[in-house]
Amino acid sequence: MRYYLGLGGSKHDFATCLVGGGKVLAAIEEERITRKKRSYGVPEDGPLAGVRYCLDLAGITMADVDAVFVNDLLEPWSYETLGKDTHVVGHHLAHAASAYYVSGFDSAAVLVADHSGGRWRTKDGTLTAEVVSYYRGEGSELTLVDRQSSADSVTVESRPFATDLRGSRGIDLLKRPGHSLGRFYAQLAKLAQCNSVLGDGKRHTESGKLMGLSAHGTPVLLDRMRACFDLGTAGRVHFQANEQGESFEDIARHHLEPRGTPEQWFARRADVAYAAQHCLEEMVLHLARHAAELTGERALGLAGGTFLNGLANEAVLSAGVADRLFVQPAAHDSGTALGAALLGAARDGNWPCPDPRPFSPLLGKEYSPAEIESTLAGQGVPHRRVADPELVAARAIAHGRVVGRFTGRSEYGPRALGNRSVLADPRDPGVRRTLDERIKYREPYRPYAPAVREADTARYFALSGRSPHMLLIGRATPEAEETVPAVVHLDGTVRVQEVTEQQYPSLHRLLGYLEDLTGVGVVLNTSMNVQGEPIVETPADAVAFLFGCLVDVLIIGDFVCCRSEHELGRFIERHGKDGDPHSDR
Ligand SMILES: [Fe+2]
Repeated sequence: MRYYLGLGGSKHDFATCLVGGGKVLAAIEEERITRKKRSYGVPEDGPLAGVRYCLDLAGITMADVDAVFVNDLLEPWSYETLGKDTHVVGHHLAHAASAYYVSGFDSAAVLVADHSGGRWRTKDGTLTAEVVSYYRGEGSELTLVDRQSSADSVTVESRPFATDLRGSRGIDLLKRPGHSLGRFYAQLAKLAQCNSVLGDGKRHTESGKLMGLSAHGTPVLLDRMRACFDLGTAGRVHFQANEQGESFEDIARHHLEPRGTPEQWFARRADVAYAAQHCLEEMVLHLARHAAELTGERALGLAGGTFLNGLANEAVLSAGVADRLFVQPAAHDSGTALGAALLGAARDGNWPCPDPRPFSPLLGKEYSPAEIESTLAGQGVPHRRVADPELVAARAIAHGRVVGRFTGRSEYGPRALGNRSVLADPRDPGVRRTLDERIKYREPYRPYAPAVREADTARYFALSGRSPHMLLIGRATPEAEETVPAVVHLDGTVRVQEVTEQQYPSLHRLLGYLEDLTGVGVVLNTSMNVQGEPIVETPADAVAFLFGCLVDVLIIGDFVCCRSEHELGRFIERHGKDGDPHSDR
């Protein structure tokens, strides 16, 4: 068996992926291990934690790895210490591979848009970066067919491998690339103060918050903002000054000058978000149409941080630009680890193309009952093993309890999809406040997402395609507005995770129990982390979450855990007893 190690990220969001035997064996974001959000790792730490993690999970050593692939925004120190010949590929190519090679499509258009990718100098010496790239996948071949550069030149020349200015040298030379959708959205998120304070005490911009905020806004800025970009021919987006000479940043800065009441300030932030979101959707649609026209393909793969925007993804499908859509769940820079490893395997004919298996982002470690029990006993956490943890969880949720659920392999990407999740009853609108104030410590304007069995989706939610990874935002049906208000956003939109038994067996089972108990087969699903911290990875992280975040109960593997024996006894008495042969252990 040949093994391919992929490293991904840029100046942040470092990640590692191991592919072998035609399978993605493991993938992990560095932040999950270091517990530092968006972390890169530092050279002083020695070999990267994610590399050790993936090799251990597969039971191999670095000597067994046949090839290492990285993208050209990584610092050379991150791979030079591995002692292997390393292939450096373009950042956008790694993004494209992360979508195409696991899409299940035998041919497809692939669109990449993010803040920026690899840097290089053009023949006239202009410093530039890739900001939008168009690829076509066919079988194992992935070919660059068009690209927009930050210098606005039409650069079609093929650069399948690394660009000229690698690592932070290139990034530092060009920090603010022009004509970048990702920079447009991130800059407006920054100006609208959509950020988090991370463990390092610094404020970091969170574009996802701008999307949530947009539902609270009005179109008051939309026409002025729209005049700040031009949707040119050949799929180009040109940012420009409007007739008043304003850039999009000028408009936002002026609108956000501090004045008025806190409520008025919030409303102005929301207006900026509204304009940003609607403009982004128009730009993305323009790019997607170009991708379809350029390739003649009706299947479309998407990757790059821009495509974590579920409203934009839904807009592409609902406009009929593509019949089939695959969005890489780790669409942001971490996902380039997967893309890099897959490029290696595909190059050598060691990747099934097309891969007929549905992609699963559950690529982290699964902890054994013995490992879990050892952690719980070692930390003195009151716990009890139960026969049917999904039934116990469903009973508790149906009674209004907020449940931390830790099971199976951890998720690769920014969404918890049921294995490192906090689950709650979506029928109760008051549960949002509980989560905001006691558990997640986050802003009340942000929505919570539902998980639903795929067969039940149409009853509750209107989507233009399948959404197994919470990457499409559709609309609530009248029944959902009525029955699950806690997961319906202010404007009636819903970020849906569709659950199949094959992909998410535990969550599927839990949803079935909830349907039996309450008549509503929907659960509120949010990630098991507090704002500014990474999602939990290990049983010990989950225990820290239980004691730090006032979740009612933690159900980890088959073990029910509470903060005290008294609480545990009461919980088991109420939710864990009936039909449970182990509940009296
Ligand atoms: Fe990127």
